[in-house]
Amino acid sequence: RVLILDFGSQVTQLIARRVREAGVYCEIHPFSMSEERIRDYAPKAIILSGSPASVTEENGPRAPEVVFTLGVPVLGICYGQQTMCHQLGGTVSGSDHREFGRAFIEVKQTCALFDGLWAVGSREQVWMSHGDRVTALPDGFQAVAVSDGAPFAAIADDARQFYGVQFHPEVVHTPHGAQLLSNFVHRVAGLKGDWTMAAFKQQAIEKIRAQVGTGKVICGLSGGVDSSVAAVLIHEAIGDQLTCIFVDTGLMRAGEAEEVVTLFRDHYNIPLVHRNASELFLGKLAGVTDPEQKRKIIGGLFIEVFDEESAKVGGAQFLAQGTLYPDVIESVSFTGGPSVTIKSHHNVGGLPERMKLKLVEPLRELFKDEVRALGRELGLPAAFIGRHPFPGPGLAIRVPGEITPEKLDILRKADTVYLEEIRNAGLYDAIWQAFAVLLPVRTVGVMGDGRTYDHVLALRAVTSTDGMTADWYPFPHDFLARVSNRIVNEVRGVNRVVYDITSKPPGTIEWE
Ligand code: XMP
Repeated sequence: RVLILDFGSQVTQLIARRVREAGVYCEIHPFSMSEERIRDYAPKAIILSGSPASVTEENGPRAPEVVFTLGVPVLGICYGQQTMCHQLGGTVSGSDHREFGRAFIEVKQTCALFDGLWAVGSREQVWMSHGDRVTALPDGFQAVAVSDGAPFAAIADDARQFYGVQFHPEVVHTPHGAQLLSNFVHRVAGLKGDWTMAAFKQQAIEKIRAQVGTGKVICGLSGGVDSSVAAVLIHEAIGDQLTCIFVDTGLMRAGEAEEVVTLFRDHYNIPLVHRNASELFLGKLAGVTDPEQKRKIIGGLFIEVFDEESAKVGGAQFLAQGTLYPDVIESVSFTGGPSVTIKSHHNVGGLPERMKLKLVEPLRELFKDEVRALGRELGLPAAFIGRHPFPGPGLAIRVPGEITPEKLDILRKADTVYLEEIRNAGLYDAIWQAFAVLLPVRTVGVMGDGRTYDHVLALRAVTSTDGMTADWYPFPHDFLARVSNRIVNEVRGVNRVVYDITSKPPGTIEWE
């Protein structure tokens, strides 16, 4: 396995994804990982990430010395290259010539890293983002590629198997970057690409059995991909020692609650408690208009109801959660200070302490796309696995202002038409998330000979890779015209449709 030491780059996670796509297991740890833990981890290769910090600062972050004495291949990326050079006796200086964005390198010499990929003399597009640069190499290194702004755009010490690149091979803007990383783990480090989902599934099943023994596990199902994959995996491991609890908040989309129940109870035969708590949720939300207040009420009620239902199930020692790897990685931040809360996300945080349960988190090591691959491996329907994300507080945060059953009903109908058209146009998979928002604004319209005074409906569709940033989706005009026409004609209560053209930032994906 490979160890990635994180110096705080925005794109460190992408390094891990590329390595795993090459079929090699890897983990990200902070650069401050102790020597002892690094030795225990026994990496077969180490990658040093980029960083917003500068090597020229006296107190800049450094790689633990053991990285260079373990005798395993090391690849430094951007800051990783610079700190490697600095620590091994080279020099790094600030430079007036910043390189940011697309750049070209010229390959000057062969090295194991370029084996079968880049030949001497070839010109390659890469993505750069640096001010500092290496100006003198440590003993044993050679410059194997140059760019305008970096005389040492790629460096190699084939004898010690130390490599450095000033550019970022992990981003898609370096077209052969993924192959370069795959070269590093396969050809340089000699690792086999045998980390597959089938293998992961088997290991995960063994691990769950070992952890749980004959104990009872409960799992909250939300209808989303993560909790569903976790539940099916755990059921495959321990069968009916697992009970799923599905709290129906009354804030799901049309037909969704029935779908969850059918899939899990009828198709998978997983013991499932379906608690219809919509009256409770809608009752407590009545008259509430503040977005944070809504989220707090829903989060609190969810825990209460879940707790109640699991007490009825009785005897559980474990709580299963679909926690993913990005939630687990300890992030390295150089900006200091706590980050502000933009929205308090609703999850089951606080449940395990309150219920004194041990956690079973079989997806802790996986990225979202890997969870989907595992879902396919477990035979979950493709349409289910490919679903857009849906927030825990559900439609409550898509009805700005007061939530009423009538408004939810209008929203469900409009949302169904919108998504149906997106599917018909073959656009569903090109979009990260698409949904309608029912605005607390009425406008005047005319239908037939009559005046209408009805709600405005906003449509939202964004592309994104992780939900952290997003762009609005550029629908063709005739598509928007068709959707608007259908909604105004088919959904009573809406007489005007608008399309949200705000990216994130500065907007967020949801409206509340
Ligand atoms: P925002 O609106 O913050 O959303 O740009 C980013 C992503 O997170 C989803 N989201 C939530 N998911 N509980 C969730 O489980 C929440 O409270 C919540 N709020 C937003 C949102 O749908 C998008 O995918």
